Amino acid sequence: MQERAIVLSGFMGCGKTTVGKALAEALSRPFCDLDDEIARRAGMPIPRIFDALGEDIFRQLEREALGSLPSLEGFVVASGGGAFTFPDNWEAAKEHALVVFLDADFPTCYHRVKDSDRPIVRRSTPLQLEELFRSRYPLYQAHCHRTVDASPLPPQVVSSIRALL
Ligand code: S3P
Repeated sequence: MQERAIVLSGFMGCGKTTVGKALAEALSRPFCDLDDEIARRAGMPIPRIFDALGEDIFRQLEREALGSLPSLEGFVVASGGGAFTFPDNWEAAKEHALVVFLDADFPTCYHRVKDSDRPIVRRSTPLQLEELFRSRYPLYQAHCHRTVDASPLPPQVVSSIRALL
């Protein structure tokens, strides 16, 4: 029998993709980055989706990508930072996967994303991003099965997750 997917959630910069890849390797499981999947399906990168189609369409594509979780049995899946802020998304994910929240504080996340081309980072001031972090944090906490401290380096975070499986 295949094992449930492991879905990593948390704010931009908490390490979902980096830790997810390392965790998948450590567990000999396949890895899927939902943002890459969305970009592949849309035929354009995420910043272009936001610019050309708008955030609402991106969220729709994100919902659809999360809808394929049942076919991702056994995968380690990195979600996008906004995915777990919508009830239908977290309900679908919690039913089909083990959801692990990578808990890193705002300064840690901000430092990692401030120079990136993420659309939400580009359009926000640091204060607006911090407010977004504060509004999302309780949702990540409430809608996960496990929480790990994501401030250490990825190998340590991988070990922490493995200890919780
Ligand atoms: C978003 C986070 C991004 C990506 C998109 C929107 C968000 O993913 O899904 O730019 O709303 O927080 P990462 O968390 O992997 O950066």
